Amino acid sequence: MLRVVVLVSGGGTNLQAIIDAVAAGTISNVELVGVISNNKTVKSLERAKVAGIPAVSVSPKDYENRAVFNEAFLQKVDEFQPDLIVLAGFLVAIPEAMVCKYSNRIINIHPSLIPSFCGVGYYGLKVHEKALERGVKVTGATVHFVTEGMDEGPIIAQKAVAVLEDDTAESLQLRVMEQAEWHLLPQAIDDIANGRIAVVDGSVKRIHQ
Ligand code: GAR
Repeated sequence: MLRVVVLVSGGGTNLQAIIDAVAAGTISNVELVGVISNNKTVKSLERAKVAGIPAVSVSPKDYENRAVFNEAFLQKVDEFQPDLIVLAGFLVAIPEAMVCKYSNRIINIHPSLIPSFCGVGYYGLKVHEKALERGVKVTGATVHFVTEGMDEGPIIAQKAVAVLEDDTAESLQLRVMEQAEWHLLPQAIDDIANGRIAVVDGSVKRIHQ
């Protein structure tokens, strides 16, 4: 069983999709061992509690500086002894030490087709606002491994979603979640847990079993 820790900042609909997929058996070979939020009041912690998953919060605001926070954060992650760390709408930069220690074992969901609308400053609703401003007709979501550069790691999976004429950032965000994110992220976790993908020379390859 792959020990999976999920990191969240917001409402946790991606976390919920993962919890539901594990319960339904569409993600197999996975134990959800912990949820970590950088926000004490967030709905995600409630979702974890309902599912019986240990949940803790760790916020940069509670530490004197980023270096001290980074150490405490890494320690919290380590305590769960994860095989895989899933960033499900986690909006805090992952410390370099964590990226090194968990190389090829951290994945992230991003609400655009990388390399469009990604990198520093592109998160949550802002990504959809930028996509609408630019007038793209197709957007989507991407699951990728996390490396030091923001949203630059090897891409695992992507799904395109149409932008409609009367979309608002909110309606587009919801459609991208419904049509792409809530499927892509559980599927990627299941693929990793069942040895269907590997990183070879910096790219993700499918392993045919
Ligand atoms: C999701 O749309 C996720 O792709 C995005 O934050 C949202 C979290 O929603 N992540 C990023 O923007 C990361 N750069 P959720 O809390 O309901 O899962």
